[in-house]
Order: sequence, then C-alpha cells, then structure tokens
Amino acid sequence: MKLLLNLSLVGLALGSPDSSRDCRCRPHQSCWPADQEWAALNSSVQGNLQPVQPVAAPCHKGNKEACTAITEQWTNSTWRASQPGAVQWENWEAWPERNESCLLETPQTACGQGRISLYSILAKSASHIQEGVRFAKRHNLRLAIRNSGHDFVGRSTAPDSLQIFTYWMKDIRFSDEFKPAGAPKSEGSAVTIAAGVNLMELYAAVGKEGRAVVAGTSHTVGAAGGYIQGGGHSLLGPWKGMSTDNVLEYRVVTASGNLVTANSYHNSDLFWALRGGGGGTFGVVVSVTLRTFDDAPTTMVNLNISTVARHPGFWEAMTDFHAAIPSLNDAGAGGYYFIIPDMPFNRTLVSTLSILLFFPNQTDIAKTDRLFAPLRSKLNATAGVMAQYTSTLFPSTRQVFSGLFIRGTDSTGKTVILGSRLFSRDLLVSPDGPEHLVNAWKKLEFNPGDTITGHIVAGGAVAKNSETVDSALNPAWRKAVTHMDFARSWAPNATLAQQQAVIRNLTEVDMPILKAVEGCKMGSYMNEANAYEPDFQKEFWGSNYLRLYEIKQKWDPNGLFIARKGVGSEDWDDAGLCRINRK
Ligand SMILES: Cc1cc2nc3c(=O)[nH]c(=O)nc-3n(C[C@H](O)[C@H](O)[C@H](O)COP(=O)(O)OP(=O)(O)OC[C@H]3O[C@@H](n4cnc5c(N)ncnc54)[C@H](O)[C@@H]3O)c2cc1C
Ligand SMILES: *[C@@H]1O[C@H](CO)[C@@H](O)[C@H](O)[C@H]1NC(C)=O
Ligand SMILES: *[C@@H]1O[C@H](CO)[C@@H](O)[C@H](O)[C@H]1NC(C)=O
Ligand SMILES: *[C@@H]1O[C@H](CO)[C@@H](O)[C@H](O)[C@H]1NC(C)=O
Ligand SMILES: *[C@@H]1O[C@H](CO)[C@@H](O)[C@H](O)[C@H]1NC(C)=O
Ligand SMILES: *[C@@H]1O[C@H](CO)[C@@H](O)[C@H](O)[C@H]1NC(C)=O
Ligand SMILES: *[C@@H]1O[C@H](CO)[C@@H](O)[C@H](O)[C@H]1NC(C)=O
Ligand SMILES: *[C@@H]1O[C@H](CO)[C@@H](O)[C@H](O)[C@H]1NC(C)=O
Ligand SMILES: *[C@@H]1O[C@H](CO)[C@@H](O)[C@H](O)[C@H]1NC(C)=O
Ligand SMILES: *[C@@H]1O[C@H](CO)[C@@H](O)[C@H](O)[C@H]1NC(C)=O
Repeated sequence: MKLLLNLSLVGLALGSPDSSRDCRCRPHQSCWPADQEWAALNSSVQGNLQPVQPVAAPCHKGNKEACTAITEQWTNSTWRASQPGAVQWENWEAWPERNESCLLETPQTACGQGRISLYSILAKSASHIQEGVRFAKRHNLRLAIRNSGHDFVGRSTAPDSLQIFTYWMKDIRFSDEFKPAGAPKSEGSAVTIAAGVNLMELYAAVGKEGRAVVAGTSHTVGAAGGYIQGGGHSLLGPWKGMSTDNVLEYRVVTASGNLVTANSYHNSDLFWALRGGGGGTFGVVVSVTLRTFDDAPTTMVNLNISTVARHPGFWEAMTDFHAAIPSLNDAGAGGYYFIIPDMPFNRTLVSTLSILLFFPNQTDIAKTDRLFAPLRSKLNATAGVMAQYTSTLFPSTRQVFSGLFIRGTDSTGKTVILGSRLFSRDLLVSPDGPEHLVNAWKKLEFNPGDTITGHIVAGGAVAKNSETVDSALNPAWRKAVTHMDFARSWAPNATLAQQQAVIRNLTEVDMPILKAVEGCKMGSYMNEANAYEPDFQKEFWGSNYLRLYEIKQKWDPNGLFIARKGVGSEDWDDAGLCRINRK
C-alpha cells in the first residue's frame, strides 16, 4: 500500500513539474519563494529589493495628499522613468485581459497590479543584476528588465514578475583610445555608459567633452537599453549610421548569471544579436561602449507647408516633398517631418507638413538653399499651398539637441499604440512611388491633431554600413529612406472590447494599407511598431530572424528573458507566463 501510494505520488510529481516547468511560478503557488528567500535575495543585493505597487495605488485607496502629488507628475516622463511601479505608457501598466489596472483616471475601481512587477531590484551594480537573474532562474520566475519604461510594445512590464530596474546605473566614462577586449588595436575615441544612462545625460556628458554621439531625440529614453539593442535611430544616422552600428562592446549578464563581454572578438554571436535583435531578449546589458566623433557645425532647414484642410494641393505638396527626399538625403540630410492632415487652427482645420532637416558638418548655407530651390519653386507653383522656409547654422550637433529637442521633458502617461513602416529609397526614386505612398496615407483615418511622423534617419551612412557592419539590424533599414509612424489610443476607462476594436483597426485596416505600398519587401522598426503585429518575426528582422532564433536558443534555452514580440516570444503566451509551443 505504502509503496503504491509513493509510486502514485511519484507519478503525479513527474506529471506536474513537467507541465509547471512550462509555466513561470506565480504567487500563491507552492513554488513561490518564501519570505526568507526574498530576504536572502534582498541581502545579496545589499537591501535594494523593493515590493512594488502601481504608482497610482494611493488614488485608489483614498490617500488624497499622495494622490495629488501623483496627479501633478502623471505626464512627467522623468518622474515615470524613476518609478518601478510605472512605465511611460499606461496601457502597459494594465492587464486588460484580466481586468486589472490601477490608473489615475479610474480611482473608483479596485487597484489591480496589472503588468506591474511584484518586486524590483533597484540595481546599482552588475552583481545586483547577476543575483536577480540567478534568483529568477532558480525559482522559475517571470523576469522583467526595466530601464526608462518607454517601450511601445509592452516589453518592460510583465505580470507577476521580478523586475530588474536599471535606472540608477548612471556611470559614464570616456576613452581616447578604446581597445575592445581581444582587439589588436584601438578603435579610437569612445564612451562607455552604464545601463541606466538616458539620452539627456548622455548628450550633456558627451557635449562637455566636445564630442558627438549617435543617439535619439528624447530626454528620458535610455541610451543603453531597448533603444540601442533594437537599432536606435538618430537624426545623425545619415551622417554616422544607426546608434547600434557604433557599438564597440557590450558587458552583459547572461541567462546563466555570468557577466560576459560581447564584441567582435568575444561572444561575437551575442554581439551580433545585441545590435538590432532587441532589448530584454538575450541578456541584461550592464554597459555599452559607443564610438564618439568630433562635434561639428550643422545647417538646419525648416520648411512649413500648409493648405486649407485636405486641399488637393496638400497631397500634391506631400508627394513633391517625398519625391525630393532621396536627393536631400544623398546630400546628407537627416531629421523629421510632421504631417497633420487636420490641424485645428483659428476655429477651422488646416493641413500642415512641417519639416526639420539637418546637415551635420555642413556650413555652406547658400549651397543648402540651392538644394531646396527646385522643391520650393514646385510648392510655389502649386495652387492653395503656403510654404515658409528658413535655414540656420548651429555651431554643433550638441546645440541642435540642447537648443531644439532636449528641453523641458517628454510628455507621457497616456495610452498609446503605434503603427509604422519603413519605406525604401527605391520606392521614392521610382516615377509613381511617392504618389503611391501618399495615396496609402490618404486612406487612413485621422482625428484633428493626429500626427504622422516621418523620420529621415537612414540612407547615407546607414545604407553604406551594410558593407562593413554585420549585425541583427532589420535589413530593411539599409534600404530605407524614411520611417513613418502614427499613434492610436483609447480612453483609460475603455473596456477590453473597445480596446480590441482599436487594435483591430490598426492591425487589420491601417497596417495592411501601408504594407501594400511595397509588398513584403520592407518591414517595420521593432521599437516603434504595432504592438500587436502578427508577423513580427519577418516585419522586425526579415532574413535575420532564423539566426536570431538560434542564438536565442543557445544563450537562453529556457526562455528566462522573454519580451513581447521579441525573438523567441512566439513560444510563449502573450504575458510570457506559459510556453505554448513545446520544443
Ligand atoms: C519620447 C520618445 C522618443 C523616442 N525617440 C526615439 C528615437 O529618437 N530613436 C529611436 O530609435 N527610438 C526612439 N524611441 C523609441 C525607443 O527606442 C523605445 O521606446 C525603446 O524601447 C526605449 O528603450 P528603453 O531601454 O529606454 O526603455 P524600456 O521600456 O525600459 O526597455 C525597452 C526594452 O529593452 C529592454 N531593456 C532595457 N534595458 C535593458 C538592458 N540593460 N539589457 C537588456 N534589455 C534591456 C526591456 O526589457 C524592454 O524589452 C522613442 C520613444 C519615446 C517614447
Ligand atoms: C530590503 O532591505 C531594505 C533595507 O534593509 C528594506 O528597506 C526593504 O524593505 C527590504 N525589501 C524587502 C522586499 O523586504
Ligand atoms: C519631473 O520629475 C522629475 C523627477 O522626479 C523632477 O525632478 C522634476 O521637477 C519634475 N518636473 C516637473 C515639471 O514637475
Ligand atoms: C472589472 O473590474 C471592475 C472593478 O474593478 C468591475 O466593476 C467590472 O465589472 C469588471 N469587469 C469585468 C468584465 O469583469
Ligand atoms: C567634417 O568634414 C571634414 C571636411 O570634409 C572632415 O575632414 C571631417 O572628418 C568631418 N568631421 C566628422 C566628425 O565627420
Ligand atoms: C482667424 O480668422 C479670422 C476670421 O475668420 C481672421 O480675421 C483672422 O485674421 C484669422 N487669424 C489668423 C491668425 O489667421
Ligand atoms: C513664387 O512665384 C512667384 C510668381 O508666381 C514668384 O514671384 C516668386 O519669386 C516665387 N518664389 C519662389 C520662392 O520661387
Ligand atoms: C514653422 O512652424 C513652427 C511652428 O508653428 C514655427 O515655430 C516656425 O517658426 C515656422 N517656421 C517657419 C520657417 O516659418
Ligand atoms: C469613460 O468615461 C467617460 C467620461 O469620462 C464616459 O463618458 C464613458 O462612458 C466611460 N466609458 C466606459 C466604458 O465606462
Ligand atoms: C475603425 O475604423 C472605422 C473606419 O475605418 C471607423 O469608422 C471606426 O470608428 C474605427 N473604430 C475604432 C474603434 O477606432
């Protein structure tokens, strides 16, 4: 009898761990670490372990004073970045499929934990990260890596997870002659930044040294996290390449808890994957070393185009501008443009296209003006179109960022999902290409004030680097001349069904229209893409996906690092809690 009983227990034991191993351990399960185990983790990270609640919890519990302070900071992205219980976009704090949220705007409902982690390690060193990774591995926990929390695809939160919070890792070091470990010679000047350094801090430090660095346009986006691991576009891209093209070395905590160097000489497969393969997937980056450049004066052009709302001349002007992009880009232009089909103005609606383009290391303004003359005279001859043009010389790229973009703070704390697409140079130099592109955008619906943002951040060095940089970056970037995105949202109190209707429109109506412009040739930028992209492997990585998947299996065979719509995430459910594809 006793023997039989034991055998059946063994049978059960064999049956259940096998299937439970396919799911992460959740609170209230017997596998969940006991209090002493959390306390031991806490001491191994020198007291930097914290329990986490969603930031708006006090508002749901009637704590007026605390709630007022939270209300004031709700859209302050610097504050959000510093809060383990928040991310930048409130839709990724909630877990609508489980009806769990804790938002400022819905204080009458119970505060649900949603996708906010249960515990956070406020990491101050590589060893804190190693302890966290080992603990999560030992206890089979869902792990979330959280830097600025800007991710548009929900990659920095996960339900019932342990969070590694990199925000406080702020070290910045310069080197005139950086020699990657194992390299025969120096690669020249570089900066090594720790995982939590944000763009504003990076620009300030690099500017003080009189150097320039390829990075993005935001205050609080992290420089070493998801931004650079996913590619990292910049208005300086046409001049010096993608941010990730300029990485010389990473220091990484791998799924086994080891701290390793990844560069061209050590762990080169991991190095390949971390340049474009995406954040939260291959390991926890502790620091990244980036090339720096001599800073240089920069010519800026601002061209504003407007018509009465949706005048035929507006679409014609938009077509003419897109047809001009390849030659402007060949001449070194990088920058952004903002299309607002229905812009509220003086109690009516107008259509506007505002263009800001930069020519780094170019000082001959008259030459730049000549470059724009053909486009300007076309606009001037188009009925109904008003155009204003200025050209200005900035003394340095540093002053472009500090004077124009990195002022005040980013405004976040809303519900946002994006749609986006990379469009090729080939398309815009073809006779009907620009018109096809504009006709596609014309079919999408926009509310007053909605903006389509064009990013001229490729071409030039980004295209040329295909010859010298072998990395996981979406190959579509090397052929792209513009990356265009737009936002959709829902009210904070929207029901799941209402949210799904917005998602369905984006995924099944808007995106197919944009994809049809160039068939399956191009793709989207993984960091600013539809968070519900069904075909993400091909869209985000094209022909690099198979190799990325293999590298993922080699370095993280048990899927400790799973990020939504990341490499290998198709083997897991949307929350990354249970495997759905058995290996
Ligand atoms: C206002 C704004 C401006 C932007 N501007 C640009 C721009 O100019 N150019 C551009 O290319 N993109 C831009 N982006 C998009 C940006 O690249 C993404 O939001 C990106 O995910 C931010 O990375 P993060 O590390 O700061 O954010 P998080 O949300 O904290 O992290 C993003 C992903 O990276 C992972 N991750 C973070 N840190 C690490 C680490 N140390 N090791 C491993 N994984 C890590 C996370 O797990 C998550 O999967 C912008 C976004 C916003 C909101
Ligand atoms: C970890 O230790 C610190 C300092 O002793 C303490 O303040 C904190 O509450 C502890 N964290 C947890 C989760 O117990
Ligand atoms: C935004 O938050 C940061 C960090 O908490 C704070 O220093 C700053 O003063 C805040 N800005 C505003 C306008 O409140
Ligand atoms: C979701 O939760 C709220 C309160 O927290 C409740 O009023 C509502 O009925 C719930 N909805 C569903 C579909 O369970
Ligand atoms: C700027 O241009 C000059 C002259 O063309 C060139 O020598 C220099 O290397 C350029 N600077 C950078 C940082 O590319
Ligand atoms: C706004 O409209 C009114 C009348 O419609 C007009 O008189 C005024 O000049 C307009 N203002 C601007 C700034 O265009
Ligand atoms: C615009 O066209 C008018 C004539 O229609 C001409 O006088 C003017 O110089 C043109 N301006 C530009 C910038 O081409
Ligand atoms: C373009 O519009 C912006 C915003 O209204 C304005 O600040 C800028 O001065 C305008 N540029 C030109 C060239 O008129
Ligand atoms: C959300 O709130 C608005 C008012 O702010 C209200 O009109 C709407 O009915 C609410 N929606 C739901 C689903 O509760
Ligand atoms: C979906 O799109 C249709 C038309 O394209 C629009 O009428 C409808 O309001 C949209 N629904 C949502 C939820 O956005």
